[in-house]
Amino acid sequence: MAMGPVCKSLFYVPQRVGIVDAYSSGRHVAPALNKYGIETVHVQSEKEIADPYFASTFDPSNFKTNVINSIGDIVGLVRRLIREKVELIIPGAESGVLLADELAHGVGTRGNPIETSSARRNKFDMSERLRSLGIDSVKQIKSDNWERTRIWIENHGKWPIVLKPVQGMGGNGNHVANNMKEAERAFKKLIGFRDSEGRILTEVLVQEFLGNLTYDSEYVVNTVSFMGIHVVTDVWRYHKYKVEGEGVIYSWDELLPSRGELQEKLIAYNHKVLDALEFRNGASHMEIMMTERGPILIENNARLSGASGARLTELTIGKSAVDWLVESIVGTAGFINRAKHRYKLKKEGLIVFIRTPEPGTMDSKLFDKVKSLSSFAEWVPYHKDGERVEKTVDSDTLVAEILLTNKDQEQLHRDLAQILKIQEEKGFLQY
Ligand SMILES: Nc1ncnc2c1ncn2[C@@H]1O[C@H](COP(=O)(O)OP(=O)(O)O)[C@@H](O)[C@H]1O
Ligand SMILES: [Mg+2]
Repeated sequence: MAMGPVCKSLFYVPQRVGIVDAYSSGRHVAPALNKYGIETVHVQSEKEIADPYFASTFDPSNFKTNVINSIGDIVGLVRRLIREKVELIIPGAESGVLLADELAHGVGTRGNPIETSSARRNKFDMSERLRSLGIDSVKQIKSDNWERTRIWIENHGKWPIVLKPVQGMGGNGNHVANNMKEAERAFKKLIGFRDSEGRILTEVLVQEFLGNLTYDSEYVVNTVSFMGIHVVTDVWRYHKYKVEGEGVIYSWDELLPSRGELQEKLIAYNHKVLDALEFRNGASHMEIMMTERGPILIENNARLSGASGARLTELTIGKSAVDWLVESIVGTAGFINRAKHRYKLKKEGLIVFIRTPEPGTMDSKLFDKVKSLSSFAEWVPYHKDGERVEKTVDSDTLVAEILLTNKDQEQLHRDLAQILKIQEEKGFLQY
């Protein structure tokens, strides 16, 4: 009896799909596959889900079973997934990226090459791989030694610089340092820091600062790939905010049309990077800084984009990266035919991330004042009513997201300004 999908054409449509860490936006994939009659098996990469946000987004009822990687026995997991007749394995959230690669390789399903796996997760490795292939990438050093790092920073000779975890996510532990004292403080804070996946950091990634000090030259290109064919699902411009003594956090994300001079540059760079990282199958979320040297990679995330980006594209384009990802699994021929597709915006859209400069208390009623704005579409609270919210320093300490859409771009920006004014006047929390 044939076992597993090893002998099938790579264009097969799987009957059962394994999703590793179906959290955050990755939670939407299983129900969408289930609608097509494809069963889903969950793989939980850790014994307990360490990240509270990830834990809160997990819905086991979407899955036939939950296979827990409690002791890190990869061979055992592979055997189990073959027994479960899983024919495709994809990551749901960032924490599942490496394990999904290993399991796909072990089971022999369509995926991405295991040899270059770390270049799709480890930020140091991904930029070094680009450099080795002649693609411009960020100047950087990775070290456990402050003295060596200090010498690198001195030789670099430009401020600010960025210090961050090598495999971070959600902006946690990111620092922008303006002088050697700040850099040393950040370095020493990061060594021994426990990241959101529970790892204790032993090395720090130090990079040249890309972009500008108004924090509005970062772009995102989201794609879905099938057999090396990349479809651009949505392009964004990020407007960020620097927290004094900390890193940068989201302020508002603006959805861009798929065509334009800038978009062509970003998309050409994105495809070059995807190919260099041997990213052939699945959803990708790539952060790119536009600099005087041209586009330069911040990081590529080998999974769907988080937060409410997919929802906003449903409201403005009518089709999200989740839809494209599902299509790449259930309708592979159709996907290839539509690969030249570029999306059109039916409406303009943006997402505002509400932050707080000091601790306060969540009160959803305070958001009623934005619901009458003509661009208001939806909002997503990050906390329950009555909960204390700490000063915002990273994405875990944001207050809420507000989704705005409008056919009239000027009105959209007037409504954005109104929301930013309320935020400035501390109108979204009880203080
Ligand atoms: N070298 C850099 N230069 C300028 N800004 C950076 C740099 N590295 C990170 N950032 C900023 O910090 C944000 C978070 O960094 P990133 O490496 O993407 O970490 P995370 O995995 O937590 O998202 C980026 O989106 C960007 O705004
Ligand atoms: Mg990032």
